[in-house]
Amino acid sequence: GKDISLVNSGKLTTCTHLPYPPFQSKQGKKIVGFDVDMVDLVASALHVKQEIVDTPFEGIQSGEDLNTNQCDVAAAGMTITEVREKNLDFSAPYFEATQALLTTKGKPFKSLADLKGKKLAVQQGTTGEAYAQKHAKGAKLVQFEDLALLLTAVKTGQTDAGINDNGVLYDYVKDNPDTAVAAEFDTGEQYGIAVRTGNDALRKKINAVLKDARTDGSYDRIYKKWFGT
Ligand code: ARG
Repeated sequence: GKDISLVNSGKLTTCTHLPYPPFQSKQGKKIVGFDVDMVDLVASALHVKQEIVDTPFEGIQSGEDLNTNQCDVAAAGMTITEVREKNLDFSAPYFEATQALLTTKGKPFKSLADLKGKKLAVQQGTTGEAYAQKHAKGAKLVQFEDLALLLTAVKTGQTDAGINDNGVLYDYVKDNPDTAVAAEFDTGEQYGIAVRTGNDALRKKINAVLKDARTDGSYDRIYKKWFGT
């Protein structure tokens, strides 16, 4: 039967922030991606369907969406951080990431120090923004509300560079050969699926599903589907 005791409404609702391919993005009317597939594993273990809610990243990472019961889980390529853990609880890590620098091809920027006096695009509320605030002191940070706006700003020269997670930037440069990943910064980030503080039953269920996914081949299958290796 349905294990609806762990979720609010007979379905597993997921807060995410689009677009963030290959983790979550729209393909026609469907929302697809690595995170979508991971949470689908959780939904099927609970015998319910996943329903995805697209909402600004700020409300996701601050815990507000979870704590006001907008969603049962948040899966948004979201890095596990100590600050966030004060307002929400994370599953075990399911993906590794690091910050990276996007430029158009042929730009001379190889480090954040090279961006002195230059415009650096950051995505609001992200670990990339926090990293830039700390380490790109001489740069002018230009804030964007989502990844698509950041990428377009770099591609069109509105900013000199942009900082975001390596996974999404490598995905972008594949289809945009006029851009390149100019540097990577070893921030050692790990993504987690978040639940509201104290929802240990659901968090444990997610951890069990993630563990099974590593051993039964579904993690590798989903990884190959979205990263192709
Ligand atoms: N990993 C970064 C962070 O946690 C960026 C996540 C942005 N995700 C999104 N779906 N827009 O801050």
